[in-house]
Amino acid sequence: MQEAHQRCRRGLDVSFVDRRQCREPSTGEHRPVSLKRPQLGSEVGDLRIPAREEHQQARRGPGTEADDPAAGTRERHRGGGADCWNLSVPTCSDDATTDPGKRESTDLPPVATTGPAYGARRMACDQAVRSVDVVQAPSRAHSAAIDSSPASAQPSLLAAYRGQPTDHVPVWFMRQAGRSLPEYRAVRATATLMEITHIPELAAEVTLQPVRRYGVDAAILFSDIVSPLEAIGVDVEIHPGVGPVIASPVRSAGDLRMLRDFEPAEDAPWLAEAVHLTVAELDVPLIGFAGGPFTIASYLIEGGPSKVQARTKALMLSDPLTWGRLLERLSEIAIASLTAQVRAGAQAVQLFDSWIGSLAPDHYERHVLPVVRRLFERLSELSVPRTYFGVGTAHLLELMAQGGPDVVGLDWRVPLDIARARLPGSVALQGNLDPVACLAPWDVLETEVLDVLRRAPDRGYVFNLGHGVLPETSPEMMSRVVELVHGYRREQALAEHER
Ligand code: CP3
Repeated sequence: MQEAHQRCRRGLDVSFVDRRQCREPSTGEHRPVSLKRPQLGSEVGDLRIPAREEHQQARRGPGTEADDPAAGTRERHRGGGADCWNLSVPTCSDDATTDPGKRESTDLPPVATTGPAYGARRMACDQAVRSVDVVQAPSRAHSAAIDSSPASAQPSLLAAYRGQPTDHVPVWFMRQAGRSLPEYRAVRATATLMEITHIPELAAEVTLQPVRRYGVDAAILFSDIVSPLEAIGVDVEIHPGVGPVIASPVRSAGDLRMLRDFEPAEDAPWLAEAVHLTVAELDVPLIGFAGGPFTIASYLIEGGPSKVQARTKALMLSDPLTWGRLLERLSEIAIASLTAQVRAGAQAVQLFDSWIGSLAPDHYERHVLPVVRRLFERLSELSVPRTYFGVGTAHLLELMAQGGPDVVGLDWRVPLDIARARLPGSVALQGNLDPVACLAPWDVLETEVLDVLRRAPDRGYVFNLGHGVLPETSPEMMSRVVELVHGYRREQALAEHER
Protein backbone atom coordinates (compact mmCIF):
# COMPACT_ATOMS: atom_id res chain seq x y z
CA MET A 1 0.00 0.00 0.00
CA GLN A 2 2.70 2.42 1.08
CA GLU A 3 4.74 1.51 -1.97
CA ALA A 4 1.79 2.13 -4.27
CA HIS A 5 1.37 5.60 -2.82
CA GLN A 6 5.01 6.34 -3.36
CA ARG A 7 4.59 5.35 -6.99
CA CYS A 8 1.60 7.65 -7.23
CA ARG A 9 3.69 10.49 -5.93
CA ARG A 10 6.39 9.75 -8.48
CA GLY A 11 3.76 10.25 -11.17
CA LEU A 12 3.60 6.59 -12.11
CA ASP A 13 0.40 4.76 -12.51
CA VAL A 14 -0.08 1.90 -10.12
CA SER A 15 -2.48 -0.06 -12.20
CA PHE A 16 -0.19 -3.08 -12.43
CA VAL A 17 -0.21 -3.34 -8.67
CA ASP A 18 -3.83 -2.64 -8.04
CA ARG A 19 -5.71 0.50 -8.92
CA ARG A 20 -7.70 0.27 -5.70
CA GLN A 21 -4.50 0.72 -3.73
CA CYS A 22 -4.07 4.21 -5.09
CA ARG A 23 -6.41 5.87 -2.64
CA GLU A 24 -6.16 9.00 -0.64
CA PRO A 25 -5.27 7.63 2.83
CA SER A 26 -7.43 10.16 4.70
CA THR A 27 -10.62 9.90 2.62
CA GLY A 28 -10.20 6.47 1.07
CA GLU A 29 -11.12 7.97 -2.28
CA HIS A 30 -9.43 6.95 -5.48
CA ARG A 31 -6.64 9.39 -6.10
CA PRO A 32 -6.21 10.81 -9.61
CA VAL A 33 -2.84 9.73 -10.88
CA SER A 34 -0.86 11.68 -13.39
CA LEU A 35 -0.32 9.23 -16.21
CA LYS A 36 3.17 10.28 -17.10
CA ARG A 37 5.19 8.15 -19.45
CA PRO A 38 6.97 5.51 -17.40
CA GLN A 39 10.61 6.51 -17.31
CA LEU A 40 13.11 4.18 -18.89
CA GLY A 41 14.76 2.19 -16.13
CA SER A 42 11.85 2.73 -13.76
CA GLU A 43 9.15 0.41 -12.52
CA VAL A 44 5.48 0.39 -13.26
CA GLY A 45 3.86 -1.86 -10.76
CA ASP A 46 5.68 -5.13 -11.11
CA LEU A 47 7.01 -4.35 -14.54
CA ARG A 48 10.43 -2.82 -14.89
CA ILE A 49 10.87 -0.56 -17.90
CA PRO A 50 14.34 -1.20 -19.33
CA ALA A 51 16.87 1.60 -19.38
CA ARG A 52 17.80 2.78 -22.85
CA GLU A 53 21.21 1.02 -22.77
CA GLU A 54 19.56 -2.22 -21.71
CA HIS A 55 17.14 -1.92 -24.55
CA GLN A 56 19.89 -1.26 -27.06
CA GLN A 57 21.97 -4.09 -25.66
CA ALA A 58 19.02 -6.44 -25.94
CA ARG A 59 18.22 -5.27 -29.44
CA ARG A 60 21.75 -6.14 -30.56
CA GLY A 61 20.87 -9.64 -29.33
CA PRO A 62 22.43 -12.80 -30.70
CA GLY A 63 20.96 -12.52 -34.22
CA THR A 64 22.24 -10.18 -36.87
CA GLU A 65 19.66 -7.59 -37.72
CA ALA A 66 21.39 -6.39 -40.83
CA ASP A 67 19.40 -8.59 -43.20
CA ASP A 68 16.33 -9.10 -41.13
CA PRO A 69 15.47 -6.31 -38.75
CA ALA A 70 13.30 -8.64 -36.71
CA ALA A 71 15.91 -11.38 -36.39
CA GLY A 72 17.47 -10.22 -33.13
CA THR A 73 14.13 -9.64 -31.53
CA ARG A 74 12.63 -12.94 -32.59
CA GLU A 75 15.72 -14.82 -31.49
CA ARG A 76 15.63 -13.13 -28.14
CA HIS A 77 12.02 -14.02 -27.65
CA ARG A 78 12.79 -17.64 -28.36
CA GLY A 79 14.86 -17.45 -25.22
CA GLY A 80 18.14 -17.38 -27.10
CA GLY A 81 19.61 -14.18 -25.73
CA ALA A 82 19.69 -11.51 -23.11
CA ASP A 83 16.30 -10.16 -22.31
CA CYS A 84 15.88 -6.47 -21.76
CA TRP A 85 13.03 -6.78 -19.28
CA ASN A 86 13.77 -7.75 -15.76
CA LEU A 87 10.39 -8.80 -14.59
CA SER A 88 8.89 -10.61 -11.74
CA VAL A 89 5.22 -11.06 -11.12
CA PRO A 90 5.33 -12.66 -7.70
CA THR A 91 1.58 -12.76 -7.26
CA CYS A 92 1.13 -15.06 -10.24
CA SER A 93 1.86 -18.70 -9.54
CA ASP A 94 0.14 -20.13 -12.60
CA ASP A 95 2.96 -21.28 -14.85
CA ALA A 96 0.59 -22.15 -17.68
CA THR A 97 1.29 -18.76 -19.20
CA THR A 98 5.04 -19.25 -19.21
CA ASP A 99 4.99 -22.77 -20.58
CA PRO A 100 3.88 -22.91 -24.21
CA GLY A 101 2.86 -26.53 -23.78
CA LYS A 102 0.59 -25.82 -20.87
CA ARG A 103 -0.89 -22.76 -22.48
CA GLU A 104 -2.85 -24.96 -24.83
CA SER A 105 -4.99 -26.08 -21.97
CA THR A 106 -6.06 -22.54 -21.10
CA ASP A 107 -9.01 -20.99 -22.83
CA LEU A 108 -6.89 -18.08 -24.10
CA PRO A 109 -6.30 -18.30 -27.84
CA PRO A 110 -2.69 -19.16 -28.71
CA VAL A 111 -0.56 -16.07 -28.99
CA ALA A 112 3.16 -15.35 -29.09
CA THR A 113 4.54 -17.66 -26.47
CA THR A 114 8.19 -17.43 -27.16
CA GLY A 115 10.46 -17.69 -24.19
CA PRO A 116 9.85 -17.68 -20.48
CA ALA A 117 10.47 -13.99 -20.02
CA TYR A 118 7.91 -13.16 -22.64
CA GLY A 119 5.34 -15.38 -20.99
CA ALA A 120 6.06 -13.82 -17.63
CA ARG A 121 5.72 -10.30 -18.95
CA ARG A 122 2.32 -11.14 -20.28
CA MET A 123 1.06 -12.70 -17.10
CA ALA A 124 -0.74 -9.72 -15.72
CA CYS A 125 -2.69 -9.12 -18.87
CA ASP A 126 -3.10 -12.82 -19.62
CA GLN A 127 -4.85 -13.31 -16.35
CA ALA A 128 -7.17 -10.46 -17.09
CA VAL A 129 -7.86 -11.59 -20.63
CA ARG A 130 -8.39 -15.19 -19.60
CA SER A 131 -11.36 -14.18 -17.54
CA VAL A 132 -13.03 -13.04 -20.75
CA ASP A 133 -14.78 -15.47 -23.00
CA VAL A 134 -13.06 -14.73 -26.30
CA VAL A 135 -14.79 -15.93 -29.41
CA GLN A 136 -12.44 -16.65 -32.29
CA ALA A 137 -13.20 -16.16 -35.94
CA PRO A 138 -14.43 -19.38 -37.54
CA SER A 139 -11.27 -21.19 -38.66
CA ARG A 140 -10.03 -18.32 -40.81
CA ALA A 141 -11.14 -20.30 -43.86
CA HIS A 142 -10.86 -17.24 -46.03
CA SER A 143 -7.11 -17.01 -45.51
CA ALA A 144 -6.72 -20.57 -46.75
CA ALA A 145 -8.67 -19.54 -49.81
CA ILE A 146 -6.32 -16.61 -50.33
CA ASP A 147 -3.25 -18.79 -50.15
CA SER A 148 -4.51 -21.26 -52.74
CA SER A 149 -5.81 -18.66 -55.16
CA PRO A 150 -3.53 -17.82 -58.07
CA ALA A 151 -5.16 -14.36 -58.23
CA SER A 152 -3.88 -13.56 -54.76
CA ALA A 153 -0.18 -14.16 -54.42
CA GLN A 154 -0.29 -11.35 -51.89
CA PRO A 155 -2.71 -10.78 -49.02
CA SER A 156 -6.07 -9.55 -50.25
CA LEU A 157 -5.72 -6.28 -48.35
CA LEU A 158 -2.55 -5.36 -50.21
CA ALA A 159 -3.93 -6.52 -53.56
CA ALA A 160 -7.04 -4.38 -53.06
CA TYR A 161 -4.99 -1.38 -51.95
CA ARG A 162 -3.00 -1.81 -55.18
CA GLY A 163 -6.12 -1.98 -57.33
CA GLN A 164 -5.70 -5.66 -58.10
CA PRO A 165 -8.47 -8.29 -58.09
CA THR A 166 -9.17 -10.26 -54.92
CA ASP A 167 -11.31 -13.34 -54.36
CA HIS A 168 -13.17 -11.67 -51.50
CA VAL A 169 -13.62 -8.10 -50.33
CA PRO A 170 -11.01 -7.46 -47.64
CA VAL A 171 -12.25 -5.86 -44.46
CA TRP A 172 -10.89 -4.30 -41.29
CA PHE A 173 -12.31 -1.69 -38.93
CA MET A 174 -10.80 1.54 -37.72
CA ARG A 175 -10.51 1.25 -33.91
CA GLN A 176 -11.13 -2.49 -34.16
CA ALA A 177 -8.88 -2.84 -31.11
CA GLY A 178 -10.52 -0.91 -28.35
CA ARG A 179 -13.31 -0.53 -25.91
CA SER A 180 -15.92 -2.49 -27.87
CA LEU A 181 -13.94 -5.66 -27.06
CA PRO A 182 -14.28 -7.20 -23.60
CA GLU A 183 -10.79 -8.69 -23.96
CA TYR A 184 -9.43 -5.16 -24.56
CA ARG A 185 -11.30 -3.83 -21.55
CA ALA A 186 -9.79 -6.64 -19.47
CA VAL A 187 -6.27 -5.54 -20.43
CA ARG A 188 -7.21 -1.89 -20.06
CA ALA A 189 -8.32 -2.56 -16.50
CA THR A 190 -4.73 -3.50 -15.70
CA ALA A 191 -2.95 -0.71 -17.60
CA THR A 192 -3.45 2.81 -18.88
CA LEU A 193 -3.60 3.40 -22.60
CA MET A 194 -0.08 4.85 -22.62
CA GLU A 195 1.22 1.91 -20.64
CA ILE A 196 -0.28 -0.48 -23.16
CA THR A 197 1.52 1.35 -25.95
CA HIS A 198 4.82 1.35 -24.01
CA ILE A 199 4.79 -2.32 -23.20
CA PRO A 200 5.24 -4.15 -26.49
CA GLU A 201 3.65 -7.36 -25.22
CA LEU A 202 0.47 -5.55 -24.24
CA ALA A 203 0.42 -3.52 -27.45
CA ALA A 204 0.85 -6.70 -29.50
CA GLU A 205 -1.82 -8.49 -27.47
CA VAL A 206 -4.48 -5.85 -28.02
CA THR A 207 -3.48 -5.42 -31.66
CA LEU A 208 -4.04 -9.15 -32.20
CA GLN A 209 -7.34 -9.36 -30.32
CA PRO A 210 -9.67 -8.23 -33.11
CA VAL A 211 -7.83 -10.34 -35.68
CA ARG A 212 -8.42 -13.44 -33.58
CA ARG A 213 -12.00 -12.59 -32.84
CA TYR A 214 -13.18 -11.30 -36.21
CA GLY A 215 -10.81 -12.81 -38.76
CA VAL A 216 -10.35 -9.39 -40.35
CA ASP A 217 -7.89 -8.95 -43.20
CA ALA A 218 -5.58 -6.57 -41.37
CA ALA A 219 -4.34 -5.61 -37.96
CA ILE A 220 -3.68 -1.98 -37.10
CA LEU A 221 -1.02 -1.28 -34.53
CA PHE A 222 -2.37 -0.34 -31.13
CA SER A 223 -1.04 3.10 -30.39
CA ASP A 224 -2.44 6.61 -30.64
CA ILE A 225 -1.86 9.42 -33.09
CA VAL A 226 -0.36 11.52 -30.27
CA SER A 227 2.07 8.79 -29.11
CA PRO A 228 5.06 10.24 -31.03
CA LEU A 229 4.45 13.64 -29.40
CA GLU A 230 4.48 12.04 -26.00
CA ALA A 231 7.67 10.19 -26.93
CA ILE A 232 9.49 13.46 -27.67
CA GLY A 233 8.44 14.93 -24.35
CA VAL A 234 5.26 16.86 -25.14
CA ASP A 235 3.05 16.77 -22.07
CA VAL A 236 0.05 14.96 -23.52
CA GLU A 237 -2.44 12.76 -21.75
CA ILE A 238 -5.32 10.77 -23.13
CA HIS A 239 -8.48 11.37 -21.17
CA PRO A 240 -11.06 8.61 -21.55
CA GLY A 241 -14.20 9.95 -23.20
CA VAL A 242 -12.37 13.11 -24.30
CA GLY A 243 -9.22 12.31 -26.25
CA PRO A 244 -5.71 13.75 -26.19
CA VAL A 245 -5.18 16.74 -23.89
CA ILE A 246 -2.03 18.87 -24.20
CA ALA A 247 -0.87 20.63 -21.01
CA SER A 248 0.90 23.54 -22.77
CA PRO A 249 -0.66 24.11 -26.16
CA VAL A 250 1.25 25.68 -29.06
CA ARG A 251 0.33 29.35 -29.19
CA SER A 252 3.32 31.04 -30.80
CA ALA A 253 6.31 30.46 -33.04
CA GLY A 254 8.47 29.97 -29.93
CA ASP A 255 6.34 27.03 -28.84
CA LEU A 256 7.54 25.05 -31.85
CA ARG A 257 10.65 24.37 -29.81
CA MET A 258 8.76 21.63 -28.03
CA LEU A 259 8.65 19.70 -31.31
CA ARG A 260 12.11 18.27 -31.65
CA ASP A 261 12.94 15.50 -34.11
CA PHE A 262 11.36 12.16 -33.36
CA GLU A 263 13.89 9.34 -33.39
CA PRO A 264 11.85 6.19 -32.85
CA ALA A 265 14.78 3.90 -31.98
CA GLU A 266 15.82 6.26 -29.17
CA ASP A 267 12.57 7.89 -28.18
CA ALA A 268 10.15 4.99 -28.55
CA PRO A 269 12.01 1.68 -28.68
CA TRP A 270 8.75 -0.08 -27.79
CA LEU A 271 7.27 0.88 -31.15
CA ALA A 272 9.40 -1.39 -33.35
CA GLU A 273 9.30 -4.05 -30.67
CA ALA A 274 5.49 -4.06 -30.65
CA VAL A 275 5.47 -4.34 -34.43
CA HIS A 276 7.95 -7.25 -34.35
CA LEU A 277 5.92 -9.13 -31.78
CA THR A 278 2.68 -8.51 -33.63
CA VAL A 279 3.79 -9.50 -37.13
CA ALA A 280 5.40 -12.66 -35.77
CA GLU A 281 1.87 -13.78 -34.83
CA LEU A 282 -0.08 -12.48 -37.79
CA ASP A 283 -1.17 -14.15 -40.99
CA VAL A 284 -2.60 -10.89 -42.34
CA PRO A 285 -0.78 -7.59 -42.89
CA LEU A 286 -0.19 -5.08 -40.12
CA ILE A 287 -1.10 -1.50 -40.92
CA GLY A 288 1.12 1.18 -39.42
CA PHE A 289 -0.39 4.61 -38.84
CA ALA A 290 0.29 8.20 -37.91
CA GLY A 291 -1.74 11.35 -37.37
CA GLY A 292 -1.96 13.78 -40.26
CA PRO A 293 -0.23 17.14 -39.82
CA PHE A 294 -3.44 19.18 -39.68
CA THR A 295 -5.08 16.90 -37.13
CA ILE A 296 -2.06 16.78 -34.83
CA ALA A 297 -1.61 20.54 -35.21
CA SER A 298 -5.21 21.00 -34.13
CA TYR A 299 -4.67 18.99 -30.91
CA LEU A 300 -1.46 20.89 -30.20
CA ILE A 301 -2.98 24.31 -30.77
CA GLU A 302 -6.41 23.77 -29.23
CA GLY A 303 -4.96 21.79 -26.32
CA GLY A 304 -7.47 19.00 -26.96
CA PRO A 305 -10.35 17.94 -29.20
CA SER A 306 -12.29 20.84 -30.69
CA LYS A 307 -15.39 21.12 -32.84
CA VAL A 308 -14.62 24.33 -34.70
CA GLN A 309 -10.81 24.39 -34.59
CA ALA A 310 -10.96 28.17 -34.06
CA ARG A 311 -7.43 28.75 -32.75
CA THR A 312 -6.01 26.32 -35.28
CA LYS A 313 -7.57 28.07 -38.25
CA ALA A 314 -6.74 31.48 -36.79
CA LEU A 315 -3.04 30.58 -36.65
CA MET A 316 -3.21 29.02 -40.12
CA LEU A 317 -4.72 32.15 -41.67
CA SER A 318 -2.91 34.82 -39.69
CA ASP A 319 0.61 33.39 -39.46
CA PRO A 320 1.18 31.13 -42.46
CA LEU A 321 4.92 31.04 -41.84
CA THR A 322 4.63 29.58 -38.34
CA TRP A 323 1.81 27.35 -39.56
CA GLY A 324 3.96 26.02 -42.40
CA ARG A 325 6.86 25.32 -40.04
CA LEU A 326 4.54 23.57 -37.59
CA LEU A 327 3.08 21.35 -40.29
CA GLU A 328 6.53 20.54 -41.66
CA ARG A 329 7.71 19.45 -38.22
CA LEU A 330 4.63 17.31 -37.70
CA SER A 331 5.07 15.82 -41.13
CA GLU A 332 8.66 14.83 -40.29
CA ILE A 333 7.44 13.23 -37.06
CA ALA A 334 4.80 11.23 -38.96
CA ILE A 335 7.36 10.13 -41.57
CA ALA A 336 9.79 8.99 -38.86
CA SER A 337 7.08 7.03 -37.09
CA LEU A 338 5.71 5.38 -40.23
CA THR A 339 9.19 4.54 -41.48
CA ALA A 340 10.01 2.84 -38.18
CA GLN A 341 6.76 0.86 -38.30
CA VAL A 342 7.35 -0.29 -41.88
CA ARG A 343 10.99 -1.19 -41.21
CA ALA A 344 9.80 -3.29 -38.29
CA GLY A 345 7.28 -5.15 -40.44
CA ALA A 346 4.14 -3.09 -41.14
CA GLN A 347 3.00 -3.73 -44.71
CA ALA A 348 0.77 -0.71 -45.28
CA VAL A 349 0.36 2.70 -43.70
CA GLN A 350 -2.57 4.98 -42.98
CA LEU A 351 -2.44 8.68 -42.28
CA PHE A 352 -5.34 9.71 -40.04
CA ASP A 353 -6.01 13.35 -40.86
CA SER A 354 -9.36 13.02 -39.16
CA TRP A 355 -10.24 16.68 -38.79
CA ILE A 356 -9.33 18.15 -42.22
CA GLY A 357 -13.05 18.13 -43.03
CA SER A 358 -13.39 21.34 -41.03
CA LEU A 359 -11.41 23.24 -43.67
CA ALA A 360 -12.74 25.06 -46.71
CA PRO A 361 -11.36 23.52 -49.92
CA ASP A 362 -9.35 26.63 -50.72
CA HIS A 363 -7.79 26.72 -47.25
CA TYR A 364 -6.99 23.03 -47.40
CA GLU A 365 -5.38 23.45 -50.80
CA ARG A 366 -3.25 26.41 -49.77
CA HIS A 367 -2.34 25.58 -46.19
CA VAL A 368 -2.32 21.79 -45.89
CA LEU A 369 -2.13 20.06 -49.25
CA PRO A 370 1.49 21.05 -50.09
CA VAL A 371 2.75 19.44 -46.88
CA VAL A 372 0.59 16.36 -47.38
CA ARG A 373 1.86 16.00 -50.94
CA ARG A 374 5.49 16.08 -49.80
CA LEU A 375 4.68 13.68 -46.99
CA PHE A 376 3.17 11.08 -49.33
CA GLU A 377 6.02 11.56 -51.77
CA ARG A 378 8.50 10.72 -49.01
CA LEU A 379 6.40 7.73 -47.92
CA SER A 380 6.52 6.32 -51.45
CA GLU A 381 10.12 5.33 -50.65
CA LEU A 382 8.70 2.75 -48.26
CA SER A 383 7.01 0.88 -51.14
CA VAL A 384 3.90 0.02 -49.15
CA PRO A 385 0.31 1.12 -49.89
CA ARG A 386 -0.47 4.49 -48.33
CA THR A 387 -4.00 5.43 -47.22
CA TYR A 388 -5.20 8.95 -46.48
CA PHE A 389 -8.27 9.19 -44.25
CA GLY A 390 -10.35 12.11 -43.02
CA VAL A 391 -13.86 12.65 -41.64
CA GLY A 392 -16.44 14.88 -43.37
CA THR A 393 -14.31 15.26 -46.49
CA ALA A 394 -16.99 15.16 -49.23
CA HIS A 395 -15.86 18.63 -50.33
CA LEU A 396 -12.16 17.70 -50.32
CA LEU A 397 -11.98 14.33 -52.06
CA GLU A 398 -10.27 15.45 -55.26
CA LEU A 399 -7.77 17.51 -53.28
CA MET A 400 -7.03 14.59 -50.98
CA ALA A 401 -6.27 12.44 -54.02
CA GLN A 402 -3.93 15.19 -55.27
CA GLY A 403 -1.92 14.61 -52.11
CA GLY A 404 -0.75 11.40 -53.77
CA PRO A 405 -2.00 8.53 -51.57
CA ASP A 406 -2.69 5.10 -53.05
CA VAL A 407 -5.98 4.82 -51.15
CA VAL A 408 -8.51 7.38 -49.95
CA GLY A 409 -10.44 6.47 -46.79
CA LEU A 410 -14.02 7.77 -46.82
CA ASP A 411 -16.57 8.41 -44.15
CA TRP A 412 -20.27 7.63 -44.73
CA ARG A 413 -21.21 11.02 -46.11
CA VAL A 414 -20.21 10.20 -49.70
CA PRO A 415 -21.62 7.07 -51.37
CA LEU A 416 -18.80 4.92 -52.73
CA ASP A 417 -20.07 4.98 -56.33
CA ILE A 418 -20.04 8.77 -56.30
CA ALA A 419 -16.58 8.88 -54.76
CA ARG A 420 -15.40 6.39 -57.40
CA ALA A 421 -16.68 8.61 -60.19
CA ARG A 422 -14.95 11.66 -58.71
CA LEU A 423 -11.53 10.16 -58.04
CA PRO A 424 -8.86 8.95 -60.47
CA GLY A 425 -9.05 5.22 -61.20
CA SER A 426 -5.53 4.75 -59.86
CA VAL A 427 -6.70 5.59 -56.34
CA ALA A 428 -8.26 2.72 -54.35
CA LEU A 429 -11.12 3.34 -51.90
CA GLN A 430 -11.70 2.30 -48.32
CA GLY A 431 -14.85 2.68 -46.24
CA ASN A 432 -17.56 3.64 -45.51
CA LEU A 433 -20.29 2.13 -43.36
CA ASP A 434 -21.67 4.56 -40.79
CA PRO A 435 -20.40 3.18 -37.43
CA VAL A 436 -23.79 3.97 -35.95
CA ALA A 437 -25.37 1.36 -38.25
CA CYS A 438 -23.55 -1.26 -36.19
CA LEU A 439 -25.76 -0.38 -33.24
CA ALA A 440 -28.93 -1.27 -35.19
CA PRO A 441 -30.62 -4.70 -35.21
CA TRP A 442 -29.00 -7.18 -37.57
CA ASP A 443 -31.52 -6.92 -40.42
CA VAL A 444 -31.00 -3.16 -40.56
CA LEU A 445 -27.23 -3.49 -40.33
CA GLU A 446 -27.20 -6.18 -43.00
CA THR A 447 -29.09 -3.93 -45.42
CA GLU A 448 -26.64 -1.09 -44.74
CA VAL A 449 -23.59 -3.32 -45.29
CA LEU A 450 -25.04 -4.67 -48.54
CA ASP A 451 -25.75 -1.17 -49.73
CA VAL A 452 -22.11 -0.18 -49.14
CA LEU A 453 -20.93 -3.33 -50.94
CA ARG A 454 -23.21 -2.78 -53.93
CA ARG A 455 -21.88 0.73 -54.40
CA ALA A 456 -18.26 -0.39 -54.04
CA PRO A 457 -15.98 -0.78 -57.06
CA ASP A 458 -15.21 -4.36 -58.10
CA ARG A 459 -11.51 -3.89 -57.46
CA GLY A 460 -9.36 -1.44 -55.57
CA TYR A 461 -11.68 -1.54 -52.59
CA VAL A 462 -11.40 -2.39 -48.87
CA PHE A 463 -14.48 -2.50 -46.64
CA ASN A 464 -14.27 -0.44 -43.46
CA LEU A 465 -16.39 1.83 -41.34
CA GLY A 466 -16.55 5.53 -42.11
CA HIS A 467 -14.85 6.21 -38.74
CA GLY A 468 -13.89 4.22 -35.67
CA VAL A 469 -15.91 1.43 -34.06
CA LEU A 470 -18.06 2.98 -31.34
CA PRO A 471 -17.29 1.67 -27.84
CA GLU A 472 -20.88 0.46 -27.35
CA THR A 473 -20.79 -1.75 -30.47
CA SER A 474 -21.48 -5.43 -29.95
CA PRO A 475 -18.52 -7.55 -31.10
CA GLU A 476 -20.99 -10.20 -32.25
CA MET A 477 -22.39 -7.73 -34.76
CA MET A 478 -18.92 -6.97 -36.09
CA SER A 479 -18.24 -10.69 -36.51
CA ARG A 480 -21.41 -10.96 -38.59
CA VAL A 481 -20.35 -7.98 -40.69
CA VAL A 482 -17.00 -9.64 -41.46
CA GLU A 483 -18.78 -12.87 -42.39
CA LEU A 484 -21.18 -11.01 -44.66
CA VAL A 485 -18.40 -9.05 -46.39
CA HIS A 486 -16.25 -12.13 -46.87
CA GLY A 487 -19.14 -14.11 -48.30
CA TYR A 488 -20.24 -11.34 -50.64
CA ARG A 489 -20.00 -12.11 -54.34
CA ARG A 490 -20.53 -9.01 -56.37
CA GLU A 491 -22.02 -10.28 -59.65
CA GLN A 492 -24.40 -12.61 -57.88
CA ALA A 493 -25.52 -9.89 -55.47
CA LEU A 494 -26.02 -7.32 -58.20
CA ALA A 495 -28.06 -9.78 -60.28
CA GLU A 496 -30.21 -10.62 -57.28
CA HIS A 497 -30.65 -6.95 -56.48
CA GLU A 498 -31.89 -6.21 -60.00
CA ARG A 499 -34.42 -9.02 -59.97
O1 CP3 B 1 -10.95 9.50 -33.81
C1 CP3 B 1 -10.21 10.20 -34.54
O2 CP3 B 1 -10.13 10.06 -35.77
C2 CP3 B 1 -9.42 11.29 -33.84
C3 CP3 B 1 -7.97 11.23 -33.94
C4 CP3 B 1 -7.40 9.96 -33.35
C5 CP3 B 1 -7.04 9.75 -31.98
N1 CP3 B 1 -6.47 8.53 -31.87
C6 CP3 B 1 -7.22 10.69 -30.84
C7 CP3 B 1 -8.04 10.04 -29.76
C8 CP3 B 1 -7.08 8.81 -34.04
C9 CP3 B 1 -7.28 8.51 -35.49
C10 CP3 B 1 -6.48 7.91 -33.10
C11 CP3 B 1 -5.91 6.63 -33.49
C12 CP3 B 1 -5.94 5.53 -32.53
N2 CP3 B 1 -6.11 5.59 -31.18
C13 CP3 B 1 -5.72 4.19 -32.89
C14 CP3 B 1 -5.37 3.68 -34.27
C15 CP3 B 1 -6.44 3.68 -35.23
C16 CP3 B 1 -7.28 2.47 -35.29
O3 CP3 B 1 -8.01 2.40 -36.26
O4 CP3 B 1 -7.24 1.59 -34.42
C17 CP3 B 1 -5.80 3.42 -31.74
C18 CP3 B 1 -5.64 1.94 -31.62
C19 CP3 B 1 -6.06 4.32 -30.67
C20 CP3 B 1 -6.13 3.92 -29.26
C21 CP3 B 1 -7.13 4.66 -28.48
N3 CP3 B 1 -7.11 6.02 -28.28
C22 CP3 B 1 -8.21 4.10 -27.74
C23 CP3 B 1 -8.54 2.63 -27.64
C24 CP3 B 1 -8.88 5.16 -27.10
C25 CP3 B 1 -10.09 5.05 -26.20
C26 CP3 B 1 -9.79 5.29 -24.79
C27 CP3 B 1 -9.17 4.20 -23.94
O5 CP3 B 1 -8.66 4.58 -22.88
O6 CP3 B 1 -9.18 2.98 -24.22
C28 CP3 B 1 -8.17 6.34 -27.46
C29 CP3 B 1 -8.45 7.69 -27.00
C30 CP3 B 1 -8.58 8.69 -28.09
N4 CP3 B 1 -7.56 9.10 -28.90
C31 CP3 B 1 -9.76 9.38 -28.45
C32 CP3 B 1 -9.42 10.25 -29.48
C33 CP3 B 1 -10.32 11.24 -30.14
C34 CP3 B 1 -11.15 9.12 -27.90
C35 CP3 B 1 -11.38 9.43 -26.51
C36 CP3 B 1 -12.46 8.50 -25.97
O7 CP3 B 1 -13.53 8.35 -26.59
O8 CP3 B 1 -12.21 7.91 -24.93
